[in-house]
Amino acid sequence: MATKNTIILAAGKGTRMKSKLYKVLHRLCGKTMVDHVLTEVEKANIDNVVTIVGHGAEAVEENLGDRTKYAVQEEQLGTGHAVLQAEDLLGNLEGTTMVVSGDTPLFTAHTFDNLFAYHQNKKAAVTILTSQTDNPTGYGRIVRNDLGIVERIVEQKDATPEEQAITEINTGVYAFDNKSLFAALHEISNDNAQGEYYLTDVIEILKKQGKTIAAFKMDNFYESMGVNDRVALSKATKIMQQRINESHMKDGISFVDPDSTYIDVDVKIGADTVIEPGVQLKGQTVIGEGCYLGAHSEIVDSTLHDNVKVTSSMIENSEMMTGSDIGPNSHLRPDSLIGEGVHLGNFVEVKKSTIGAGTKVGHLTYVGNAKLGKNINVGCGVVFVNYDGAKKHETVVGDDSFIGSNSNLIAPLNVADHSFIAAGSTINKDVEKYDMAIARERQTNKPGYYKKLPYQKD
Ligand code: UD1
Ligand code: CA
Repeated sequence: MATKNTIILAAGKGTRMKSKLYKVLHRLCGKTMVDHVLTEVEKANIDNVVTIVGHGAEAVEENLGDRTKYAVQEEQLGTGHAVLQAEDLLGNLEGTTMVVSGDTPLFTAHTFDNLFAYHQNKKAAVTILTSQTDNPTGYGRIVRNDLGIVERIVEQKDATPEEQAITEINTGVYAFDNKSLFAALHEISNDNAQGEYYLTDVIEILKKQGKTIAAFKMDNFYESMGVNDRVALSKATKIMQQRINESHMKDGISFVDPDSTYIDVDVKIGADTVIEPGVQLKGQTVIGEGCYLGAHSEIVDSTLHDNVKVTSSMIENSEMMTGSDIGPNSHLRPDSLIGEGVHLGNFVEVKKSTIGAGTKVGHLTYVGNAKLGKNINVGCGVVFVNYDGAKKHETVVGDDSFIGSNSNLIAPLNVADHSFIAAGSTINKDVEKYDMAIARERQTNKPGYYKKLPYQKD
């Protein structure tokens, strides 16, 4: 049976990144480079996916998990040597094997599908995916004969000045007849400028065997971009961001300035949401319809339902129900659940708390480890005192209660529904239904005292 296989090359250290982190684990738009590659490969219905790991093998395996098989390349002797490590897993199979690098994160499944189809059609031993660029520096060049037929690929460092002038480049993606590939890999040598076993040398070997070499030229060079250093990483990030933002715009989301809006690849957004400049939506965030995300808000791994309004605030690992709002300058820390129509104003911090529908927390307040019911009014400057220096404790406040400004609620504490806490109180005893709690020094007025002040004014 003819199989469809893919080998992802991810064993290189990536010296040019100047990083402790292995190259393919550098991230753009919320995913590592190699995860982007694998995600697109998965969409192309492949039977066997093998990732070649070496440097940072454990970290790469931790990142990709069991979505792929792995083969280890102990020493990084070149891309040809890397592919050969998959021989035990794939060597005996009939069919087609695509090779792709873990450092080309912009490829789409659509291009992979086109490559497979073209390769099948041409009945070639190999089809090289090529593209065209005015600045081919660093890429292998496609050498064609006078008839335009591909002869071989020459690496930048081995190329003559004439060859360096060629603007058709090797994208590093190929579809091979599987058995021809592994047979030819045993014939390559490392007699070249870098002393490496080049996968690209397989082309010339197959050519000499009289086999058919095909080249499929893609029209979008940027999709084929390889990331070898941080400059390229930032360029690839920009391109991917553009792609993500445009796809949201087509789905009915408005961006005031897409160039300064940063959205991770897995984020979902409902129609008629408006996004202002400087907004960052990260991780597994889901945004409902008709939301307003104000300038410089950062939302991480959170769910916002419909018609939520966020003004210059940060939201982490939390959920905001329909019609609620937050900000400016407020912070939802992990595990906060904000109910329908809740109003969180400015300088409000909420952590690991539930706030019931219709409750208002307008200004300068910290809510930590608390359960607030519905339609509560929390005044200005209230502190839920949740920490005794050793442990966190919980506060519960019932529906329709009123918490006066500048109160401290010392947990563990139960404040019943329909109760009232007077402003300026420090509360450490439970409050019953319909009661008012007041806990502050009584006011004393000293008549005429002003006149004793040394700096008094008439
Ligand atoms: C490679 C191609 C070049 C092509 C370019 C496209 C070769 C010899 N050259 O060059 O023709 O234009 O990609 O982006 O193939 N890797 C291993 N083991 C190794 C060496 C590399 O797994 O021993 C992996 C790297 O992690 C990387 C990929 O193979 O993901 C490509 O290696 P890299 O060194 O980046 O090759 P380029 O110089 O970019
Ligand atoms: Ca590369």
